[in-house]
Amino acid sequence: MLSSLSFVLLSVVFPSVLAATTYDMVKEYSGSTFFDDWNFYGKFDDLTHGDAIFVTKNVARSSKLAYVDPTTNHAIIKVDNTSKVVFNDKRNTVRIASADAFDVGSVWIADMYHVPFGCSVWPAFWSQAPNWPKGGEIDTFEHWNMELHNQMTLHTEPGCTQASPLQTSTVVNSTNCAFNANSNAGCSVMDPRDSSYGAKFATAQGGVFVTEFAASGISVWFFPRSSIPSSLQGNASSFSIADLGTPTANWPAAGCAVDTFFKAQHLIFDITLCGDAAGPPAVFAQTCSGVCYANYVVGNGSAYNDAYFDVASVRIYSVTGTNTVRLGSAALGTSASAWAWAAAVLGGAFTLLAL
Ligand SMILES: *[C@@H]1O[C@H](CO)[C@@H](O)[C@H](O)[C@H]1NC(C)=O
Ligand SMILES: *[C@@H]1O[C@H](CO)[C@@H](O)[C@H](O)[C@H]1NC(C)=O
Ligand SMILES: *[C@@H]1O[C@H](CO)[C@@H](O)[C@H](O)[C@H]1NC(C)=O
Ligand SMILES: *[C@@H]1O[C@H](CO)[C@@H](O)[C@H](O)[C@H]1NC(C)=O
Repeated sequence: MLSSLSFVLLSVVFPSVLAATTYDMVKEYSGSTFFDDWNFYGKFDDLTHGDAIFVTKNVARSSKLAYVDPTTNHAIIKVDNTSKVVFNDKRNTVRIASADAFDVGSVWIADMYHVPFGCSVWPAFWSQAPNWPKGGEIDTFEHWNMELHNQMTLHTEPGCTQASPLQTSTVVNSTNCAFNANSNAGCSVMDPRDSSYGAKFATAQGGVFVTEFAASGISVWFFPRSSIPSSLQGNASSFSIADLGTPTANWPAAGCAVDTFFKAQHLIFDITLCGDAAGPPAVFAQTCSGVCYANYVVGNGSAYNDAYFDVASVRIYSVTGTNTVRLGSAALGTSASAWAWAAAVLGGAFTLLAL
């Protein structure tokens, strides 16, 4: 009696020590319905200046740039590697953003077997709030060209830094998350394991990226397939953060007030070509030879045979007893911009009627 009472008191006094946050699955993207709740960007890369056209859902489907592999039941998201691109044209690829957004108190777990890589290729699996940089950005997976390691990064409004992280990575590239500092490098941590990116990720049959978006801090774990914790194996519909061990990268709320700098996040998969990060000649030359656009994007596309995501599932979890899903709507079969255009035209029609 006495001992259970003191346990209760301790729980109240030291919640951060004793709390082992549990999460329950609230949404899953997988199998034949994987692509149902995403918006396809539907125009050229006017966001990061890549030599890429992010196709509409219809084009992605008809040209098999976004499809569910009937053999594995995994989602494939890829760069066009079969079309000849002539000088001055861009190459087709994909950018999708989840219709729903996921608020503080969420975890997203992406199970992948292959990530895009190759000279001129710049892939990311990441998230952001609608009015960037307001509401923040969380990059769970990103790198470019023939780099060997995953890079995990936050981008925010000024005032957020990485301070006193509890993380396994020893490679901290930058600690100021502000978009207007250090050419928007963000606060970035590299995963020093070769299995975290590129050909060696694929050889190890990929693995699982876990992103915890908690008021107490943001954390990313990467588990290569051979070391996925048992509590995440199979179709785990709930798990405890305590079972995951120390994260690969961690941004505690002490340096960055998560509730202030971050709002509900839309998940994004994209692959662009060259552009602001992969294309500058000095960056490109670090791991590739030749000229990013002229020697890779232009031509028969054979440079892009490895430029694809192979995703078994993306699962969203909320803190037990809550639901952090903020419902949005996916445009039907077309791009988000076509949807906005239709809304504008309808709005115009209503204006005429009103006159
Ligand atoms: C981060 O630092 C490591 C080690 O110095 C370096 O190899 C890597 O290229 C850096 N990442 C970025 C994005 O600059
Ligand atoms: C996992 O469980 C969810 C919810 O119970 C279900 O919708 C989904 O189909 C399952 N996925 C697999 C791969 O078994
Ligand atoms: C595609 O282009 C590459 C590089 O220019 C060349 O090595 C390769 O033979 C070409 N493949 C085909 C099928 O034309
Ligand atoms: C394009 O890449 C896929 C793998 O993503 C490969 O299976 C296919 O053979 C490639 N196509 C050509 C024409 O090389």
